[in-house]
Amino acid sequence: MRRRLVVLALIALFASAARAQSPPGEGVPYIQTPQVVVDKMLDLAGVGPDDFLIDLGSGDGRIVISAAQKRGARGFGVELDASLVEASNAAARKAGVAERARFFARDLFDTDIRAASVLTLYLLPEVNLQLRPRLLAQLKPGTRVVSHDWDMGEWQPDAKAVLEGLVKPVMPIRASSVYLWIVPGKVAGKWKVRLGGARPESMQIEFTQRFQEISGIARRTRGPSLLQSAHLRGAEIRFAVIDETRRPSVPLQFFGRIYGDTMEGSTDAGQRWRAERKPL
Ligand SMILES: C[S@@+](CC[C@H](N)C(=O)[O-])C[C@H]1O[C@@H](n2cnc3c(N)ncnc32)[C@H](O)[C@@H]1O
Repeated sequence: MRRRLVVLALIALFASAARAQSPPGEGVPYIQTPQVVVDKMLDLAGVGPDDFLIDLGSGDGRIVISAAQKRGARGFGVELDASLVEASNAAARKAGVAERARFFARDLFDTDIRAASVLTLYLLPEVNLQLRPRLLAQLKPGTRVVSHDWDMGEWQPDAKAVLEGLVKPVMPIRASSVYLWIVPGKVAGKWKVRLGGARPESMQIEFTQRFQEISGIARRTRGPSLLQSAHLRGAEIRFAVIDETRRPSVPLQFFGRIYGDTMEGSTDAGQRWRAERKPL
């Protein structure tokens, strides 16, 4: 209860800072992420040279510039305030990363985010929630989403870090939270699974999914089976199918990857498996 009151007070403060620091009508204020928190955001997302990072509401450009300068990544930021965009492009030139860190005066809600392998946010809780369906629908499975201070409601983070002892502009508490989500593949629905190897067989699996949380029911041709320990991280999936007709029942572990409407992988017994999503 007390934590909730503190969070509500913070949101009110953040929003009133919006009115104080930004032209009226723009909901999210310009408040910089402290550099130590920027570094933690990049760490938590494991940003490296192969990444393409997009910062929605990029302020003075520090997240994209740090990703380019310190991690060798590429990317861009979008920002409503044209003077901040100009300053960000100038800072990228000064840092020698203008080719890899670019900034555009653009509304984040009109920005194509599909190229991102990492998406960073320091917005407001309700803006995160507004963005959430788009992130889940448009970002590739495995894309890392990192948010400073604000969560995604019911979409639980895959990792969280708290930094204490900070000097933060506007905010009364001297701590920052950094949240990481891995965009989950879409696994909900019925699948026909074919298992190869010495004992080929097929089975039906029906998965239910809430964000990255999955569970399922398996029906093997040779009898009822239990599906356990289902786990999803980006496009990587694993689960165990237990043959209940055998005693003692030994779980067969499946490891695989989702490719749209197919999945492929291997079992711990060395068999290859392939699944196709059944039309609704
Ligand atoms: C809290 S600041 C974060 C700046 C930077 N990302 C950082 O972490 O240091 C949020 C920024 O989002 C910008 N912003 C607000 N609404 C926006 C929108 N609809 N499209 C693009 N930028 C927006 C604000 O002008 C502000 O600079």
